[in-house]
Amino acid sequence: MKISRVLALACFLLAAISVAPATEKQLAADYHARRVALGNALQGGIAVLFAPEEPVLDFDAHRQDSDFYYLTGWDEPGAALMIVGPTPADKERPGQTAHPREYKEILFLPTRNLRLEQYTGAKMDAATPGVTRATGVDNVEPMTSLAADLNKLIADDRRVAINVWTQPHVKAADSLLDFTAATLGTTATEPRDVTTLTMPLRETKDAREIDLLKKASEASIAGQREMMKAVKPGETERTIAGIMTAAWYRNGCERPSYAPIVGTGIDSTILHYSANARTIEDGDVVVVDAACEYSMYASDITRTIPANGHFTARQREIYDVVLGAQKAAIDAFVAGKSKINDFSHRDPDTLDAVAFSYINTHGKDLHGQPLGKYWLHGLGHMVGIDVHDPAQYPAVLKPGMVFTIEPGVYIPEEKLGVRIECDFLVLPDGKLLDLDADLPHTADEVEAAMRN
Ligand code: GLY
Ligand code: MN
Repeated sequence: MKISRVLALACFLLAAISVAPATEKQLAADYHARRVALGNALQGGIAVLFAPEEPVLDFDAHRQDSDFYYLTGWDEPGAALMIVGPTPADKERPGQTAHPREYKEILFLPTRNLRLEQYTGAKMDAATPGVTRATGVDNVEPMTSLAADLNKLIADDRRVAINVWTQPHVKAADSLLDFTAATLGTTATEPRDVTTLTMPLRETKDAREIDLLKKASEASIAGQREMMKAVKPGETERTIAGIMTAAWYRNGCERPSYAPIVGTGIDSTILHYSANARTIEDGDVVVVDAACEYSMYASDITRTIPANGHFTARQREIYDVVLGAQKAAIDAFVAGKSKINDFSHRDPDTLDAVAFSYINTHGKDLHGQPLGKYWLHGLGHMVGIDVHDPAQYPAVLKPGMVFTIEPGVYIPEEKLGVRIECDFLVLPDGKLLDLDADLPHTADEVEAAMRN
């Protein structure tokens, strides 16, 4: 190798190290297995997934598309992934030109933009030395080959034209299919929604995903603990959000999993209040629904605490109803049978119905009415690369799934909202593991954490 090429390679590697994301990756074999599983689900079709472009305002944050990340662990913007599903020979129909295809995967990397790289850091392209190993994908090609490759696959087997799977609402996917149809002299057909195939794959987490989810919970717990020490009358909601954010970064997280919610007094009754614009007052409760992402995997935790360190009798009464509802759901849980997330709270197989029944039969409002009507949302949702990971709800809960149980009671008339939310993993033996077990749960535990 000429000295100038050695220098160029050394400079690239140094640049790559200096911009290397702090995210922990899984094994290349894990991502490969997911791509093969998707290939087998394609019914002989072809999937093309796109990573989002770098934000137009390059100082905005880039977050990889969740499905793209699940399948590749690849963080860089602007790439495309093609998965060619295998077609067994016996599926061939007489009279067609089709021939059996084997599984194939190609990662297409965009042309480098050296000027933009001065703003956002060095990227790889298909010519970068070691790129196949770095990506872990069997084949890496320049993005300019994508349309030609798809054209050839469809020209070889026209049936594939109606069996192309892409992410919905992705402009590049629509443009690719329109262009392919134009080059083949056919009418563009609607692509099929690849997220309907990735969703069931993503529902069950593998061991290394669970490790990352646990780390997200640990960092989020650290943030919630610092929050419990910092809350006091006179402090602002936004300062509390900032204190948690610092703890998340210190504990290795790259971003919040969602806009932090710090709701004091009347704000505690607004489910997704995230303006965080008020000052905490003596006598308030504060609902803090705030957690972070660790290496792209989310945590989702809510605690409700008294501003001055002591729940009033009424606040504690409502707190205990909500905690009791969470415990009732945990006690009723049966792996493979229980379901989660039914807004009606009525489907008897759902944990929602169990929690609703508890809330509606314990405690009363100021008019002597049951509390059920003060709970407005589903009991929980899947958690993974997205804080609300995709699932078909109400979802049957099985080993390997991670989900929240988050009952709440919100009484605006009393400026009193209480939500308690933990993340649970269904273990192989069907038992539930509370990933947030190290965080205070009971009213006494919360008050103790605020003292220490
Ligand atoms: N943590 C927000 C939500 O689950 O809706
Ligand atoms: Mn949640």
